[in-house]
Amino acid sequence: MAKEQTFVMIKPDGVQRGLIGNVINRFEQKGIKLVAMKLVSVSKDLAEKHYGVHKGKPFFEPTVKYITSSPVVAMVLEGENAIEIVRGMMGKTNPSEASPGTIRGDFGQFIGRNIVHGSDGKDTAEFEINLWFSKEELTSYTRIDEPWLTE
Ligand code: RTP
Ligand code: MG
Repeated sequence: MAKEQTFVMIKPDGVQRGLIGNVINRFEQKGIKLVAMKLVSVSKDLAEKHYGVHKGKPFFEPTVKYITSSPVVAMVLEGENAIEIVRGMMGKTNPSEASPGTIRGDFGQFIGRNIVHGSDGKDTAEFEINLWFSKEELTSYTRIDEPWLTE
């Protein structure tokens, strides 16, 4: 295990449905540290870069349309094994298959309205953090509960 940073986005449906606080609360309570956050109206250019790996797939255009339709919350989270832990807390891509207790399992029903995004690996996390945030926007601090969280 190693300390990792991951890019997380609360998608337009999560923002519109008033789920920002609930989603952030889950990560806070797990002890994953928030190191950057902003509300963003996503441009077509940014959306196409973010979902660049899916270019040419049938869901590419609808997905770009979806995340440019209303503001999103963009975040960088940090912690031991954070990439995998965040993906686990999000649940399967299709909310209809996601387990109860996960964000998608608790709040979603359709694959094209799945509330959150999280980087799927180390290289993706680095690419996405650099795409969405400047170096100056990333903070570095100690959370007061860290000695009680770790062993
Ligand atoms: P994300 O990138 O948003 O965290 O989701 P993911 O890794 O779980 O899934 P991915 O395969 O990367 O797909 C990206 C997003 O595209 C939409 N999608 N629609 N209709 C479909 O078959 C389909 N497949 C994917 C979803 O919004 C998915 O989150
Ligand atoms: Mg993905």
